[in-house]
Amino acid sequence: MKSKDDKITEITKDVSWIGVLDYDIRTFDIVMTTEHGTTYNSYFINAGKKAIVELAKAKFCDVFLEKLRKLTDLSEIQYIIVDHTEPDHVGSLKVLLDLIPDVIVVGSGNAIRYLEDILNKPFRSLVVKHGDKLDLGNKTLTFIAAPNLHWPDTIYTYLEEDKVLFTCDSFGAHYCSENLFSNFDKDYTESFKYYFDVILRPFSRFMLKAIDFIMPMQIDYICTGHGPVHRGESIATAMELSSVWAREYMARTTDKNGYNIFVAYISAYGYTKEAASIIARGIEETKDIKCEVADIEEMPLDILEEKLTNCDGLIVGSPTINQNTLLPVYKLFALVNPIRDKGKLAGSFGSYGWSGEAPRIILDTFRSLKFKTFEEPGGVKFSPEGSKEDFLLEYGRKYAVTFMNECGRK
Ligand code: FEO
Repeated sequence: MKSKDDKITEITKDVSWIGVLDYDIRTFDIVMTTEHGTTYNSYFINAGKKAIVELAKAKFCDVFLEKLRKLTDLSEIQYIIVDHTEPDHVGSLKVLLDLIPDVIVVGSGNAIRYLEDILNKPFRSLVVKHGDKLDLGNKTLTFIAAPNLHWPDTIYTYLEEDKVLFTCDSFGAHYCSENLFSNFDKDYTESFKYYFDVILRPFSRFMLKAIDFIMPMQIDYICTGHGPVHRGESIATAMELSSVWAREYMARTTDKNGYNIFVAYISAYGYTKEAASIIARGIEETKDIKCEVADIEEMPLDILEEKLTNCDGLIVGSPTINQNTLLPVYKLFALVNPIRDKGKLAGSFGSYGWSGEAPRIILDTFRSLKFKTFEEPGGVKFSPEGSKEDFLLEYGRKYAVTFMNECGRK
C-alpha cells in the first residue's frame, strides 16, 4: 500500500500539477493492462483569473479536491478547461460544480454536448473553436482543435506566457511515478509505445496533423492527461516517436505492395488447426497475398490487437462447442475497432462434430462490426482430410479471389 497521495508539483511558477497517482490499477478501460499504474493529471493555473485544466477520475475526487484546496480557495476558480470529456478526466466535475456552481466549463462544442449527458444538470459553459483565445487577466490560453485524439471532442490548450501545452491523452502514457517528468527509460518508453498503439494509433492521420501544427510552437512543457509531463529533450522525443509510429501505421495501411491475411484459430483436437493451414495454402496460391496463421487461445491481447491492426483481411476458425464459439474468439471481437478495421474482408471456418454453428456466429458478428464478410462459412466435420481438404483449399482460393476483387488496391 502506498503512502497518502498529497503530491503537488510546480511545473512553472504559476502552473502546478495537482493530479492523482494511481499505482494500483492493473486494467484500464477494461482492455488496457497497466503494469505501472497510471496518473490522472490535472493542472492548476494561478493567473489573474484562476483556472484548472483537466480533472480527476470520480473515485479520486477527495484526493484531488484536497490538493486543489491547498492552492486556492475554490470560489476563486473561474474556469475549468476540459480538453476531452472521457470520465477518467472529468469524473470529478459533478462534485466540483456543486461546490462552485458559477464556474465556467470551457471545451469544444462536442465536449460541452457530451458533458450535458454526462452531468445531466445545467452548468455554465463556453464553447471554443480552433484559434480562440481566453484572457485570464495576466495570462492567455489559446485553443487548438485536435479532433479524434482520441475522441471527437478533443482540443489542446496552450498557455502562451508559460509556454505550456496541455494535450490530455496525446503524448501520454499509463505510467505512475514519483518523478513527474518523463525520461524515456526502457519501462517508460514501453508504456508510452503501448499507450500510443492502443489509444492513438488508429487515429494516426489526426496525430500527424496535430504534430505538424504544434511543431513550430514554442513549448517548454507538454502536460499530458496520463503519466509524466514532458520537458527539455523529452518534448522532441515524444513528438518524434509519435510521428514515426503514426507514419509507420499510415504506410502499412496505405502504401505497401503485398497483402497480409490473418488466419486466427483455436483448436480443441487439432482439426481446426489443420483446417487453418489448408485454407492458408489455398489463399497463398494468389500472388501478392501472404497469410499469418496463428493459434490465438493463449495469445496476449496486445499481440492479438497488433495482428488485427496490421492485417488486410481476417479469417477466424473455431470448433463448435455446445452450439457456440469460444471465449478466445469473443476476446478477439472485443479488440476489433470498427473505425480501424471497417471494410476488411472477414471469413470463418472450423471443425465440428454434430452441429457447426461457430463459423456462422463468427461471420454474423464480423458483419455487425462493419467488416465485409466472405459469405461461405468453411465448416467441416471432424478431421479435414480427403474431399474436406479439397473443400478447404477451394475455400481459401475463393476467399483470395473475393479479397482481390473487393479489397485489393486497384
Ligand atoms: Fe484518458 Fe481518453 O481518456
